[in-house]
Amino acid sequence: MQALLSVTPGGPETLELTTLPDPTPARGEILVRVRAAGVNFPDTLMIRDLYQIKPPRPFAPGGEIAGEVLSVGEGVADFAPGDRVLALTGHGGFATHLTLKSSTAVKIPDAMPFEDAACFIFTYGTSYHALKDRANLQAGETVLILGAAGGVGSAAIELAKAMGARVIAAVSSEHKATFCQELGADETLIYPRELDRAAQKALSARIKALAGGDGADVVYDAVGGDYAEPALRSIAWGGRYLVVGFPAGIPSIPLNLPLLKGCQITGVFWGASVFRDPAGHARNMQELFRLYGQRKLAPRISARFPLTRAAEAIGLLDRREARGKVVVTMGDM
Ligand SMILES: NC(=O)c1ccc[n+]([C@@H]2O[C@H](COP(=O)([O-])OP(=O)(O)OC[C@H]3O[C@@H](n4cnc5c(N)ncnc54)[C@H](OP(=O)(O)O)[C@@H]3O)[C@@H](O)[C@H]2O)c1
Repeated sequence: MQALLSVTPGGPETLELTTLPDPTPARGEILVRVRAAGVNFPDTLMIRDLYQIKPPRPFAPGGEIAGEVLSVGEGVADFAPGDRVLALTGHGGFATHLTLKSSTAVKIPDAMPFEDAACFIFTYGTSYHALKDRANLQAGETVLILGAAGGVGSAAIELAKAMGARVIAAVSSEHKATFCQELGADETLIYPRELDRAAQKALSARIKALAGGDGADVVYDAVGGDYAEPALRSIAWGGRYLVVGFPAGIPSIPLNLPLLKGCQITGVFWGASVFRDPAGHARNMQELFRLYGQRKLAPRISARFPLTRAAEAIGLLDRREARGKVVVTMGDM
């Protein structure tokens, strides 16, 4: 098998393509021939030892995969060789083969290509949990999405539209704004790549003008940093502010703001929710597959890289250049 391994902490240039012996599945595990792996922001952090989970080295990044089952370990009854699956792996996905606990794999619909399947669970799982379980988003409400052209952000646009909401997509370039319009965003706004105090005030005013009324009912914040406070200042009375991610840094928020807005600041930790509420997660996955079957969701894959060039895939996210999803494909390697 081949794997792109992180051998020392650092950027994508530190990853090394390595040939390793094929693994065998232990009891309760399945061996998967990986066909595609989705790229996500945590991959950029994990290889630098900046993520909350630090796998022992050497490890391959790649938190979600799709492929076919090659063999099953002792005690596995619900999968058989040939089954097409997707899985949330945490890491290890940038490889041609992978063993994983059978409980973490999900069979995929026949009509779902491996590339779509590898770009499905992480972004749609997170954004559905955020908008449905954490924000209780209602039809007719207005959602502001920060970082709306990224992986979880673009999934949030599609899901919020499918749930009947009005979407304001906030991004850092014209190019990304056009992409969000194509996904169904009702309004777009472009914020600067760096914000000073005046730019923060201008951003707040712009959001309020686009949201109308009191402000946005729900803020989906996948960016953090200096963008968080102006977004919170533009939330409606009784709004829900979803804390999703911090590519721009972890913000500090003056606690008078939630008091003045009568709003909730709500943490979203999808990975933990999957383990704490497996039944709720399974329900959400079935609903997401149904929406995919109805073509209300479709992962927007804007760039594809073979495993030999997977480091470049991580570089796109690093440089804030990715739109929608970036995927690594293994083909017949
Ligand atoms: N809470 C959870 O359960 C959960 C689950 C999944 C992911 N996440 C988090 O959600 C965030 C987004 O993940 P993703 O996979 O969707 O990433 P992504 O595709 O790279 O999108 C991140 C977006 O953040 C914006 N951004 C702002 N400042 C940035 C910077 N300094 N570097 C890079 N991007 C920057 C970029 O949009 P603009 O250029 O338009 O600003 C970019 O499109 C990450 O922090 C990730 O860890 C959280």
